[in-house]
Amino acid sequence: MIKIENVSKSYKKGIKVIDNLNLEIKDGEIFGFLGPNGVGKTTTIKMITGILDIDEGKILIDDIDIQKNPVEAKKKFGFVPDSPDMFIKLKGIEYLNFIADIYEVPQNVREERIERLSKKFGIYDSLNNKIQSYSHGMRQKIVIIGVLLHNPKNWIIDEPMTGLDPSSTFELKKLMREHADAGNSVFFSTHILDVAERLCDRVGIINKGKLLFVGTYEEIKEQLQEDKSLEELFMEITKNDEEN
Ligand SMILES: Nc1ncnc2c1ncn2[C@@H]1O[C@H](COP(=O)(O)OP(=O)(O)OP(=O)(O)O)[C@@H](O)[C@H]1O
Ligand SMILES: [Mg+2]
Repeated sequence: MIKIENVSKSYKKGIKVIDNLNLEIKDGEIFGFLGPNGVGKTTTIKMITGILDIDEGKILIDDIDIQKNPVEAKKKFGFVPDSPDMFIKLKGIEYLNFIADIYEVPQNVREERIERLSKKFGIYDSLNNKIQSYSHGMRQKIVIIGVLLHNPKNWIIDEPMTGLDPSSTFELKKLMREHADAGNSVFFSTHILDVAERLCDRVGIINKGKLLFVGTYEEIKEQLQEDKSLEELFMEITKNDEEN
């Protein structure tokens, strides 16, 4: 569970990139965070994960305050950033063992998970190569596997499907569904609205730092009284906001 309470953030004094955001991602749900480029999705995710300080308000992960108790809060989530270019001098297997050490994943558990997940995502044969030799999609996969190694309750993923091939996207979506169905939460940002329409239990639409809508796809259709795709409804909601 992730609770965002009255959160605001500025990079430059006087210009709020995030303006009094309130959002709750519940256990058991996949939540899609949608919005045009540059409206504050990654900024929000960086505050949830403790990478950026929060100017006003607070964020709780499983009731633990990310600013007051960052180490305990960080044990409660796994995070896949939008640019997975980390630790590129390490071999894939070294990176995974490093992550497993940090999160104290027992040897037998990590071995089973590394083998199963890297085979699932088709990079088992590349684990002994350095990450710098990996393609963008392969780098994303190694970070995703690292996150799944310690089986965190809350998954936070910034644009997971941008570089993944179809079979890995399929596997990831399946894992997200299974994880949520087991009573955990999945929070991800995306621009791929037909995926969001099918995969998400609820979505939030943000524009210029403010939430325009939170709810299910059915609720958006009811609110706008139109039986259209999520993509079409998204365009209407954001266009109306620009005109106001
Ligand atoms: N480190 C930074 N310093 C100054 N401004 C920043 C910084 N990071 C982001 N911004 C600005 O904050 C705003 C929100 O950026 P953010 O990365 O959160 O958008 P986003 O919704 O994730 O966009 P995208 O869909 O393109 O990923 C943008 O105007 C961006 O230029
Ligand atoms: Mg972003």
